[in-house]
Amino acid sequence: MGNRKPLFYDVTLRDGNQALKNPWNFRQKETIFMQLLKLGVQAIEIGFSGSSSMDFKACRHLALIAPPGVVVSGLARAKEKDILKVAEALTGANRKRIHTFISFSPFHMENVLKKSPEDVRKIAVEAVRFAHSLLGEGQEIQFSVEHFGDCSENLSFVIDSLQEIVAAGATIINLSNTVERTRPLIFVELMKTVFENLPEGVIPSVHCHNDLGMATATSVESYFAGATQLECSLNGLGERAGIANLYEVAMSLHNCGVEVPLDMSGFYEAARLLAGMSQIPIPEKSPLIGSDALVHRSSIHQDGASKTAGMKKGAYRPVDPSLIGRSESERMGFTSQSGKMAIYEMIRRAGYAITVEDAVRILPTARKKAEKIGELSLEVLLDLYIQSVKSR
Ligand code: KIV
Ligand code: ZN
Repeated sequence: MGNRKPLFYDVTLRDGNQALKNPWNFRQKETIFMQLLKLGVQAIEIGFSGSSSMDFKACRHLALIAPPGVVVSGLARAKEKDILKVAEALTGANRKRIHTFISFSPFHMENVLKKSPEDVRKIAVEAVRFAHSLLGEGQEIQFSVEHFGDCSENLSFVIDSLQEIVAAGATIINLSNTVERTRPLIFVELMKTVFENLPEGVIPSVHCHNDLGMATATSVESYFAGATQLECSLNGLGERAGIANLYEVAMSLHNCGVEVPLDMSGFYEAARLLAGMSQIPIPEKSPLIGSDALVHRSSIHQDGASKTAGMKKGAYRPVDPSLIGRSESERMGFTSQSGKMAIYEMIRRAGYAITVEDAVRILPTARKKAEKIGELSLEVLLDLYIQSVKSR
């Protein structure tokens, strides 16, 4: 099971875009689309063409410029008019996918859709049948169960409905944790039960939102429990707190020995591009891509990092930064809690022939200074070092 190739389905241009304060225009979408192609993403949801004429135009353009091997997908509510719009927008693509969805959550069906489960099932089956009738052989229909994470009490309804939906032509079944209210392992158990009851050949997929900060965990565990398609986005962009972050999911799988069919060395570049284009800066503490993600500040960590620098595995290094295209290596920051190895490493890396004994000598003064002003810059440490060398 661990050796199946994951299929990354990117939703930055749809789930990410719909959550922006200022949704992207035609050209901005094209720039991001090109970045996704550079990363080697195999399937890209290019938009929600029924949502606005701007998005429709952008989708039509991206479908036209997509390389023949890439799956180009458009989202549609389970309504004929939305499905028709997607089919029209996808005309120029070689590998087309219509993605339609509806919620099967009892709460949502009763309070938002205001329909009986039987009516909702009928709408879903008819939508898939209609989408199937519009696309030629070899093209794909994806059906998503919105709010699947809320379906523990009506799982048999979900399974029966999905069996009909597959018979009507859906080849990819996506289970959404639309609002993250469920523990990862509970979501995974529900997901396993559903896919055990669907015909072989259906591509199992998950779409995990990050309301409680566990979207990466849920996506990764879903992969190991049988999901092949993982829906992710660049920088984790998506509704509210976002969706599973492509870099984190891919790197977690890579660290578990899974072959990841992406050019991961483009992740850092993509992250910075997306931060600019979304006007959502990367938090310092963001895993893998944050500016602090490679910085050691406590003396214990600095000692371990220094002793294992240059080794394949670092005592406190989560990944080799070059794997995701970060040119800087792990580094030290000097605070009142830091140790001699920070001084030694920082000054040595700046090109000086400092010894560990030199670093020990200036440690008390540096710590006192840091107590007063916080983290010390390299310049301040260099001053202390040069003064101590002169006074010897
Ligand atoms: O979060 C969700 O359920 C979605 C669906 C449209 C797949 O974005
Ligand atoms: Zn979503």
